[in-house]
Amino acid sequence: VNVGGVQRRTIWPGDSGETVLVIDQRDLPHRWSVATLATPDQVFEAIATMVVRGAPLIGVTAAYGMALQCIVDPADAALKAAAAKLNAARPTAVNLAWATQRMLSQLVVEPLARRRERAFAIAGAMAEDDVAINAAIAAHGLALLRELPRRLGRTRLNLLTHCNAGWLATVDWGTALAPVYAAHAAGLDVHVWVDETRPRNQGASLTAWELGQAGVAHTVVADNAGGHLMQHGEVDAVIVGADRVSAQGDVCNKIGTYLKALAAADNGIPFYAAVPLSTLDRSVHDALRDIPIEERSGREVTHITGIDAQGTHREVSIVPAGTVARNPAFDVTPARLVTALITERGAVAPSFERLQALAGQEVAHA
Ligand code: MRU
Repeated sequence: VNVGGVQRRTIWPGDSGETVLVIDQRDLPHRWSVATLATPDQVFEAIATMVVRGAPLIGVTAAYGMALQCIVDPADAALKAAAAKLNAARPTAVNLAWATQRMLSQLVVEPLARRRERAFAIAGAMAEDDVAINAAIAAHGLALLRELPRRLGRTRLNLLTHCNAGWLATVDWGTALAPVYAAHAAGLDVHVWVDETRPRNQGASLTAWELGQAGVAHTVVADNAGGHLMQHGEVDAVIVGADRVSAQGDVCNKIGTYLKALAAADNGIPFYAAVPLSTLDRSVHDALRDIPIEERSGREVTHITGIDAQGTHREVSIVPAGTVARNPAFDVTPARLVTALITERGAVAPSFERLQALAGQEVAHA
């Protein structure tokens, strides 16, 4: 995307061929900073501490982590150990293990001397694929969005999104926001309700920043406002991303997504999840039982960060001293509440058969 007149992506290889550069998303929206990752351990840290986040971007970053491992030690055992470590950085987004497994299977068949060069080439191709996939999601999503104002008999389209599934969560364009950018570019009058997305506020900090940069009309709302807006006819569709989708089409996404889907169903509002097929985990049939839900530090709930009037970055407590907090980072929206999954191969109402047919063989998880 274009940010302030400059073409940006979230991740790119360093000129030396020995590093990978990423936008440090912990500093947005207040400061633009770039982090240089030079070792697989630094990649692990960047994923675990959410320098980079969002399922597709986590996957591509881990792929580059495997490439950095090839610089240190490209032997089979070292690559397998690096993949296992990277996979543990964040447990819920399946794109992470999908990407390291892809790297592993394509690298172990190469002679040792060629692995480093091949690894950077494969990771780079994965990044390019992500951009192309999101462009396809944009086109399929746009077709759905174009229908809505026609059906509603008015021109303005009000969407609601949760967390950040925009370009910052991918290499470029995003998943849930890709159709929004396409709609905006096509001249549709689109406005987005942006859930703040407690506890880390990816909606308020990242989605609002992205949409602002792109000139898309948007309004940040407290997470609890969505149901009220829907009851009053102010939401035409909900569109979110996903960290893992079960074989039947259950959608695991940022905590709070499920409540938005319930409210959407109660109000007869379409609920879309925009997902690359690399997010489909066909080994998962019971999403509630089998998708590992990341538990993050309670400090993300008990404290809130931002900048004060002087521009100083501060973290403040919002609870009585000593309060215990629980912080599950994702939840599962059952397929019955999902109107359609928007993938790079088209939009489908979720079902095991339809997803099998759509995915074919090549995205099967190990
Ligand atoms: O914890 P995060 O910020 O990595 O969570 C991100 C989300 O939940 C996104 O909706 C999901 O990864 C899809 S990103 C295209």
